[in-house]
Amino acid sequence: MHTENEWEARYQAGTTGWDRGQASPGLFYWLDQGMLVPPAQVLIPGCGNGYEVDELARRGFDVVALDIAPTPVNNLRQRLLHQGLKATVEQADLFYWQTDTPFDAVYEQTCLCAIDPTEREAYAEKLYQWLRPGGLLLAQFMQTGQEGGPPFHCALGEMETLFPPARWRWPDQAGPVVDMGEGRQERGYALVRR
Ligand SMILES: C[S@@+](CC[C@H](N)C(=O)[O-])C[C@H]1O[C@@H](n2cnc3c(N)ncnc32)[C@H](O)[C@@H]1O
Repeated sequence: MHTENEWEARYQAGTTGWDRGQASPGLFYWLDQGMLVPPAQVLIPGCGNGYEVDELARRGFDVVALDIAPTPVNNLRQRLLHQGLKATVEQADLFYWQTDTPFDAVYEQTCLCAIDPTEREAYAEKLYQWLRPGGLLLAQFMQTGQEGGPPFHCALGEMETLFPPARWRWPDQAGPVVDMGEGRQERGYALVRR
């Protein structure tokens, strides 16, 4: 299990190899496909520096972003302020975070692969609870093909078990494939919460 302090230490040391310094091409793929339409309410758990938050806020989405580490939360808040953009950014442990108003969409990028695999079921339950029926989970499943992590490999067969068809409608076609370097890829899937 990785605590707030461990993630914070990574941000302070700058050992943040996942941070591309700009919004992911995966997000632009979903936007170009019309999967997300403003002013939808979008949640980004484990947002990190959250460049996707800027992009969605700029386009008129109602965005809530969470991260357990204070440094990226502060970075993101400052950036939004400087750009005159509005979004809700909270420093919170996603396993304890709740909402009274379920979201239209969750953008899941490099958070599932960051948490310990023993916590995946609890995270999948949170994703289910955070979304309204018919809401969209835009999941980027990390493919490392390796043991250990983070990032932990998200084998697609295991994802089908974690997000079972009784609760989630899987798409006929996969979405974007984003190169993450070091032989890793994120494979995007748009799942509909039943
Ligand atoms: C690999 S980073 C990805 C950050 C961002 N999504 C990106 O793509 O740049 C994983 C992020 O999840 C956050 N995180 C890990 N466990 C968390 C938890 N229990 N609650 C909230 N955030 C968490 C970390 O602080 C870190 O910023």
